[in-house]
Amino acid sequence: MGQLVPREAVALLGQARRVVIFTGAGMSAESGVPTFRDALTGLWQRFDAQALATSQAFRDDPALVWGWYEWRRSIVGRARPNPGHLAVAAIEARVPDGALVTQNVDDLHERAGSPAPVHLHGSLFAPRCVACAHPAPVPAEEEPAEGRRVPPPRCAHCSAPVRPGVVWFGEALPQEALAAAVEATSSCDLLLTVGTSGLVYPAAEIPQVAARFGAAVIQVNPEETPLDAVADVNLRGPAARVLPALVEAVWGGTDPA
Ligand code: OAD
Repeated sequence: MGQLVPREAVALLGQARRVVIFTGAGMSAESGVPTFRDALTGLWQRFDAQALATSQAFRDDPALVWGWYEWRRSIVGRARPNPGHLAVAAIEARVPDGALVTQNVDDLHERAGSPAPVHLHGSLFAPRCVACAHPAPVPAEEEPAEGRRVPPPRCAHCSAPVRPGVVWFGEALPQEALAAAVEATSSCDLLLTVGTSGLVYPAAEIPQVAARFGAAVIQVNPEETPLDAVADVNLRGPAARVLPALVEAVWGGTDPA
């Protein structure tokens, strides 16, 4: 593990005052939640992810799209935070200031003890009315229903269909979340990017904004990504191994500070 945590990364994290941790689907991969690009397996493999995650797809076939998100929510409901999520919460507890910004729509950061992740792409647990945007209750969890069409519930106020509370392709990011992310990113001295392909904009700009404002960037990802170019240190490995090793190297363990 020593080779996964070069001295430069230990020094950067050990000295940082304001740390932004920016996470993507790879963060939850070792909890058994498929990354976005891996999610269309099994019975879903005949669909195109980018075509399912759009408002047009929901208008065309609400039961297909709602069923897909219900299936993803059932996977998340059965998943547990992995040691990477716990290490993220440990870093947050140890650094003087910072923020956790995630593209993930699961709740594994919260369940690992992170107090207030900024969800740039919304949440599987915040359904709302497609017409009047009134929040709707999260349906009772059922058995995973891979490939099953599920008609969405109706809004209690206006009877329009309820939609998943996630950001779809072509939609704007939630204004408050984006503002919080940009504010934290433009004033941090270290940005740790974990498990994101760096392909989906505008979220992928977050590490670039940090670098532009003079922050150091550490990337954790087993694969090469376009973010390699902005990272000062690339830690090639899975988040659930690399992040606990990093915390161990800087502070000697992940037990509560
Ligand atoms: P992707 O599915 O695009 O990329 C996942 C990244 O995680 C890849 O770079 C993998 O190499 C990496 N990875 C896989 N396993 C890992 C592990 N164990 N530890 C660390 N990294 C690992 O997911 P995102 O970058 O999050 O947006 O995708 C961004 C957005 O694209 C998603 O939020 C979603 C999707 O379209 C919307 O739904 C709007």
